[in-house]
Amino acid sequence: MKPCVVVGVTSSIATFKAVQLVSDLLKKGYDVEVIMSENATKFVSPLTFSSLTKHKTYVQTFDRVDHYDVEHISLAKKADVFIIAPATANIIAKVVHGFADDMLSTTFLAANCPKLIAPAMNTQMYLNPITQENLNKAKALGYHMIEPCVGLLACGDTGTGKLADIPTMIDAIQMVSHRDKPLLHKKVLVSAGPTREALDPVRFISNHSSGKMGYALARAARDMGANVTLVSGPVQLQKPYHVEVVDVISAQEMFEAVTKDYDSYDYVIMAAAVADYRPAKVAAQKIKKQEEATSFDVVKTQDILQYLGDHKTHQKLCGFAMESEHMLANARKKFETKHCDLLVANNIHTEGAGFDVDTNIITLISDQGNTELAQASKEELAYQILEALCK
Ligand code: CTP
Repeated sequence: MKPCVVVGVTSSIATFKAVQLVSDLLKKGYDVEVIMSENATKFVSPLTFSSLTKHKTYVQTFDRVDHYDVEHISLAKKADVFIIAPATANIIAKVVHGFADDMLSTTFLAANCPKLIAPAMNTQMYLNPITQENLNKAKALGYHMIEPCVGLLACGDTGTGKLADIPTMIDAIQMVSHRDKPLLHKKVLVSAGPTREALDPVRFISNHSSGKMGYALARAARDMGANVTLVSGPVQLQKPYHVEVVDVISAQEMFEAVTKDYDSYDYVIMAAAVADYRPAKVAAQKIKKQEEATSFDVVKTQDILQYLGDHKTHQKLCGFAMESEHMLANARKKFETKHCDLLVANNIHTEGAGFDVDTNIITLISDQGNTELAQASKEELAYQILEALCK
């Protein structure tokens, strides 16, 4: 059964966004309960949330009429995750000081589950030292902060205070609702996406990698408790919550980013599809003037995985192999020559596998032999790859 998320909704012009948050959480299969502050009901009707969740939307602590359950306690016990979104300066001040004067603050105080706060307010209110002190207190209490964005606010000001976007809030909920943390205190480095090699200021050599598998691995490692750095080539994907992202373009930049502090990592996963070739200047003797060149030579880019395998000390190293034929034999060869602890092999010609699709069909190559995994989403496979790597 999917976890129960209790969404606390307080009064802000961003209150309407909580409707989308609840709707998206339901689509992902979460059981959702909503508690609103009295003032939030001036922006959105409790009926809107009830129609979506199929549960009563709670506002008052003592508004129960038909049964004898102590609702703030039963909801607090039912909650696997508690998020207040949008959270006003007022509710943040209340919950960090233990106030319990309405249904939301009372249930929040009674709940013993991971708690998230997504602030939304005017910039000056947000930057006010009192609010900042309360936010620091919330962090010290172990509440996860989903930082507001910078943008044009309803009051006409531009600055920090805009409610974080919904995918980021859902990503944060996914992180805290994953209870199994075998990678706690471990450092994980993941590379993802394609790299690009510039031919000139306009054109480049690259490949069709979407980065989806690498991003799923970074999220899964984070969910499993790791401290994750994601070195990403150019992709069109949402940045994962609570993951340090280092953006790179070329193979050389990726090489520099993944070898920096290489020794500090426990697990390193090269899921990036590094462009295999980079343009090289046409040899001077072939043409009279370099700038008149109409063709170019290509040379192999640095094999980053090979370098990592050759220089590893204690790290567990995972590589990928995208093969078009003789998948198992070629992948086993890469596993051995690149000194990997695990190699994830897939076939570019198999339907439902490879670049830019949401599923994958993979075989894990290790010292223990080959393990073929059933077709699954890249998210599900990411957990299985990490479990195999940390065995
Ligand atoms: N890789 C790398 N640096 C490169 C090329 C590939 O680190 N310049 C890594 C990829 O991130 C992947 C693994 O090596 O983890 C295998 O990549 P793949 O493209 O399948 O193999 P190649 O080594 O490039 O060999 P080929 O393309 O000839 O099959």
